[in-house]
Amino acid sequence: MPKPLMCDPSLFSQDLSGRTIVVTGGNSGIGLVTVEQLAKQGALVVLAARRPAEGERARAEVLQRVPAAKVEVAELDLAKLDSVRQFAANLLAKHPVLHGLVNNAGVMNTPKSKTHDGFEMQFGTNHLGHFLLTELLLPALKAGAPSRIVNVSSCLHDMAQGFEGRIDFDDPNFEKRPYEGWQAYAQSKLANVLHAKSLARRLEGSGVTAVSVHPGWVRTNLIRHSLPVWMQNTILRPVLYFAGMIEPWEGTQTTLYALLAPEVAAQPGAFFSQTGVYREKAAKKGGWPLHSPNPHAHDQTAADRLDTLSRTLVGLA
Ligand SMILES: NC(=O)c1ccc[n+]([C@@H]2O[C@H](COP(=O)([O-])OP(=O)(O)OC[C@H]3O[C@@H](n4cnc5c(N)ncnc54)[C@H](OP(=O)(O)O)[C@@H]3O)[C@@H](O)[C@H]2O)c1
Repeated sequence: MPKPLMCDPSLFSQDLSGRTIVVTGGNSGIGLVTVEQLAKQGALVVLAARRPAEGERARAEVLQRVPAAKVEVAELDLAKLDSVRQFAANLLAKHPVLHGLVNNAGVMNTPKSKTHDGFEMQFGTNHLGHFLLTELLLPALKAGAPSRIVNVSSCLHDMAQGFEGRIDFDDPNFEKRPYEGWQAYAQSKLANVLHAKSLARRLEGSGVTAVSVHPGWVRTNLIRHSLPVWMQNTILRPVLYFAGMIEPWEGTQTTLYALLAPEVAAQPGAFFSQTGVYREKAAKKGGWPLHSPNPHAHDQTAADRLDTLSRTLVGLA
């Protein structure tokens, strides 16, 4: 496996004081490392967590390492649109000006299940919840411009266990076709890429830059529906490293690059990738930015259709 891409260290000496940045799924894995690094650089970070107690535990962990960290925990369940609305209302009342939104939370290869509002779990959580959240926070992100939106997608938006990432506009929620967890993940992660693409078009000239990223194959809790996490972290760890798995700090580099690097402002809608598993050999070493090998990721009509569909499904149409 190629070596992971790492940020220029100068990015981490940028002073972020006075900036307010929201990170979803901030209590675990890539989200938690993102929160800690931003806090270390002086940002006020809103750590959005599905389970507030876990959010508080994560906050305490960050404070142990970064005593001056400014981290606020707020409850956000992306699988419940009411929770997204409540989170956004509380947040905007307190922070009407935002400088960054990291749409990081996610689930992978879940058993067949639905969100509170009846959407397929991965499409609903990974895409629709973040879609509504982004829409509700846009006025604050515009007020804070120049600002960034980073959608944490995956290389599996290209191909996941043989399933090409594709939005099935006739059946996004797997109501007419047999459910396949990897196919649903690929669809939801392609949706993250297309979402950034359509945001980029809509936000032209606003000073808000939206992009998407693949963080790498990272040792986190994401694997939990496919393999016990303890097994990943113990007996299988050396084998998985050999196969290309990386540590959370390495897996957070692409998010931090997309959020902080000045040159990203000139690349709205772009996809930035850590090393990954792609159908094309050349893409496997990643790239900041990377041209996705999935033709659907470049389909502006699909991006527009997804925008319209998502707007309808979350009740914004
Ligand atoms: N790890 C990888 O190899 C990899 C590769 C490609 C892409 N990614 C992407 O990276 C992102 C971060 O994942 P990770 O690897 O850091 O995994 P992780 O450690 O499992 O973290 C996922 C986070 O998402 C949260 N989450 C799950 N369902 C939620 C919901 N309904 N509402 C709000 N938050 C919810 C989790 O909260 P709980 O702790 O409460 O469950 C957790 O904080 C995901 O979008 C994932 O698709 C990861």
